[in-house]
Amino acid sequence: MISQCNPVERRPRVFSGVQPSGALHIGNYLGAIRHWVQMQETHDCLYCVVDLHAITVRQERKALTAATLQLANILLAAGIDPERSILFVQSHVPAHSELAWILNTITYFGELRRMTQFKEKGGGEQESVGVGLFDYPVLMAADILLYGADHVPVGDDQKQHVELTRDIAQRFNREFGKTFVIPEPVIREEGRRIMSLDNPANKMSKSAASPGSYIALLDPPDVIRRKIRRAVTDSGTEIRATPDKPALTNLVAIHSIFSGLSPEAIEERYAGKGYADFKRDLGDLVADALAPFQRKVAELTADPAGTRNILREGACRAEAIAARTMERVRERVGLVPRPV
Ligand code: TRP
Repeated sequence: MISQCNPVERRPRVFSGVQPSGALHIGNYLGAIRHWVQMQETHDCLYCVVDLHAITVRQERKALTAATLQLANILLAAGIDPERSILFVQSHVPAHSELAWILNTITYFGELRRMTQFKEKGGGEQESVGVGLFDYPVLMAADILLYGADHVPVGDDQKQHVELTRDIAQRFNREFGKTFVIPEPVIREEGRRIMSLDNPANKMSKSAASPGSYIALLDPPDVIRRKIRRAVTDSGTEIRATPDKPALTNLVAIHSIFSGLSPEAIEERYAGKGYADFKRDLGDLVADALAPFQRKVAELTADPAGTRNILREGACRAEAIAARTMERVRERVGLVPRPV
């Protein structure tokens, strides 16, 4: 019998990224960040604040800097544990840009032109659309492939980019020899979709023009209560989560997530009561639920040196993994090693 000595268990690796643009809202938390936190139990995780992706649309300099650090604090406050996971800023690891360039050389114009997000974001203006916006998915492929990620948790809208990443990785492996792990997208379940407060037909979106349409994770309690008070409702007066009442269904879903009650129990609790009662309670519920998280963000914000240390350490650990991948990539492509 062949003895297996000390098989070292390698946990599957996760990579995901989030852009420091726009305010993170409860839909982002419930749909993404909460799962990122959970995945730390079962995976080796890298989580990246993707500032280079953010600049594919014009950002105000100071706002970008502030949003990058704030997003890192939000992730830490939400439970991303820098002892267990690698949390870092994309631009701190130059290998992302470097690998993106090399992958550009094997990516087809037609592949990028077909990306739905590109068509939506850049679609109209053929001549003046930024090249960065066009090339965005290749940078994303570099993010993922640098770390040999097995699983990539993303929203629906990013699935196509992860599929392109697989195609690029397979092409590279075929043409230059096995180099990259082929990643799997992990799409979060649809059921958890939180809809906009001013139009329940749309997903809650951080790029929405109207701040009244979303509840930002850092909205102060009075703002949360006001947004919920002003949320659109359906005709009628009863609190019911039924298909003919999409606005109430969404509000009941938010209640359910924060209170842990089933939608039926919520309907029962508010039987005979009106929208105003329900909305007042919901405003209090969400504001109270976010309070401890917001306190933690405030503590982290008060200690910028602490955040800097965490990000320095994260970049250092990420870079060590990325450097190994880049060495292999350069060798496969035939780039002469830098003489020592
Ligand atoms: N494009 C992603 C988004 O907007 C963010 C992102 C950048 C990402 N690089 C990534 C997600 C790598 C997963 C893996 O949501």
